[in-house]
Amino acid sequence: MQQPPVSTLPSGYQPNSGLLADKIILVTGAGDGIGRTAAETYAAHGATVVLLGRTMSKLEQVYDAIEAAGHKQPAIYPMNLEGAVEKDYRDMCDTLNDEFGRLDGILHNASELGDRTAIRDYAADTWQRLMQVNVNAPFMMTQALLPLLEKPEHASIIFTGSSVGRQGRAYWGAYAASKAAQENIMQTLADELEGVTGIRANSINPGATRTAMRAAAYPAENPSELKTPEALMPLYLYLMGRDSIDTTGQLFNAQ
Ligand SMILES: NC(=O)c1ccc[n+]([C@@H]2O[C@H](COP(=O)([O-])OP(=O)(O)OC[C@H]3O[C@@H](n4cnc5c(N)ncnc54)[C@H](OP(=O)(O)O)[C@@H]3O)[C@@H](O)[C@H]2O)c1
Repeated sequence: MQQPPVSTLPSGYQPNSGLLADKIILVTGAGDGIGRTAAETYAAHGATVVLLGRTMSKLEQVYDAIEAAGHKQPAIYPMNLEGAVEKDYRDMCDTLNDEFGRLDGILHNASELGDRTAIRDYAADTWQRLMQVNVNAPFMMTQALLPLLEKPEHASIIFTGSSVGRQGRAYWGAYAASKAAQENIMQTLADELEGVTGIRANSINPGATRTAMRAAAYPAENPSELKTPEALMPLYLYLMGRDSIDTTGQLFNAQ
């Protein structure tokens, strides 16, 4: 089977410090790991960031860090993607519309790892939970928020893939399948929206990154040998900001 080409950040890319000035950007899983760093980085480049996650105390810490740094006041949107249903996403659209009137970008970053076990033994309830959080939630959220993303001239949706989503690997079960699905949704959406709206959609495979999820997946690994979330941010900025307005439907590797 032929794999689609994978893109990387244009060499020498330097984001402008005001790249995301006046942009409203929603980040899911903004309380920890890559999502936290992306939220703080987007705020540092001028965005008003909507911090979505399930653990309020973590979201408050990110909120405080952004405020203390003197960036635009963020907003917190507490939501557990596991239990969220269509109506929750419609309500979310109404709330964001009332507050901001539009949306310039979504970073679909929140995901669960699930069990590292063989398909033969994979628990069906864990499988369904992962599909709910990693696949159904970004689908329902994107669908509900498209009217807000259509309001600005350009908007960007970033999905988050993984190496095991591009090529399945033993014991990665629902996580691998969910990441393949997320990147496929991205491609379908990008194809549907290109030329019809100013919305582009791309996905990032972060690669091995020093976070709690990576430590859970590889407990014997030395985290200090891994790239930090900060090291990935040029690509996260590139795809969210106007430098990528002609790029859509692409699979990116951050490393
Ligand atoms: N780290 C890597 O090496 C690596 C490699 C490839 C792909 N990725 C992908 O990169 C993204 C970020 O990963 P990470 O390593 O930064 O993971 P992380 O440190 O585990 O952070 C994931 C974030 O998602 C949130 N989240 C999980 N389930 C949720 C739910 N049901 N509702 C709302 N929020 C939820 C978590 O909330 P809590 O803080 O409340 O737990 C957390 O803030 C994920 O999509 C992951 O699959 C990571």
